[in-house]
Amino acid sequence: MNEEKGYSLNVQWFPGHMTKAQRMIESNMKLVDAVCEVVDARIPYSSRNPDIDRLCAGKPRLIVFNRADQADPAVTALWREQYRKDGVGFLETDAKSGKGVQGFTSAVRGLLREKIEQYAAKGQGSRPLRVMVLGIPNVGKSTFINKVAGRKAAAASDRPGVTRGKQWITIGSGLELLDTPGILWPRFDSQTVGENLAFTGAIRDEIMDRETLAANLMLRLRAAYPDNVEKRYKFRPDQEATGFELLETAARKRGFLVSGGECDLERMAAVLLDEFRAGLLGRVSLERPEAQP
Ligand code: G4P
Repeated sequence: MNEEKGYSLNVQWFPGHMTKAQRMIESNMKLVDAVCEVVDARIPYSSRNPDIDRLCAGKPRLIVFNRADQADPAVTALWREQYRKDGVGFLETDAKSGKGVQGFTSAVRGLLREKIEQYAAKGQGSRPLRVMVLGIPNVGKSTFINKVAGRKAAAASDRPGVTRGKQWITIGSGLELLDTPGILWPRFDSQTVGENLAFTGAIRDEIMDRETLAANLMLRLRAAYPDNVEKRYKFRPDQEATGFELLETAARKRGFLVSGGECDLERMAAVLLDEFRAGLLGRVSLERPEAQP
């Protein structure tokens, strides 16, 4: 993947961390009643682990659309409908502010209704419900767990290479969370996925050509959110322009010039990516359910 552009995508994931995480997840799966997968609501396909179905081994699943405050609410509603049809629990959260997090307990209890009834019938009504929480880096998993637990229970900003052991976190209302044993890996199946992960900061952009990345982000924004571009950079993106030309126009509008009147594309690329990640381009969803494989 990405060979045609000479990118090497996040090579440090392979192979040790992936194998180790996989083993840890598989060996702990029997200990939990359900699995909660935290994804980035802006890129809910790209930020899902590709092997999650196999790893979850048929356990009831809750998908948490975190960073919902940064995603387009109309698109998030389409995803919610899709997951409802598929019988997967769905929760929208902004873990940074805590919005939506209070719905976690009832979402898990709803998902495990039958199990709760079985426990009660066996006189085990006080038995805790155990949930494994998974998520690739940068989706906001640690922030989410800390908000659910009401304290700093999860180590923030996991990165490949930093290995932690498993951790049970008891929260009120009869729930116990198992913080991801191991670091979950993202998809590696297309350039679009790699770009989505880079746009949102899930993988470091120094491993890619930043100007190309930013030019491609301009094209994506022009296609779905031209008003947001206009509002932020004070020009209406021309339908015929290339991504680099759009980046150049933005650079001129911002006055990012180098000697000789040339545009400073490097600076504009860094600014666009930073501003996109900081939410300054408004609420943007880069993936819609109907467009995914
Ligand atoms: P991870 O465990 O999945 O790797 O992610 P982590 O919780 O460390 O969160 C990464 C960054 O994303 C943090 O920002 C965190 O505050 C932010 N974040 C997490 N959830 C949300 C959310 O729902 N909405 C928004 N807008 N941001 C979210 P940071 O800049 O690294 O740290 P800080 O400055 O917030 O402390």
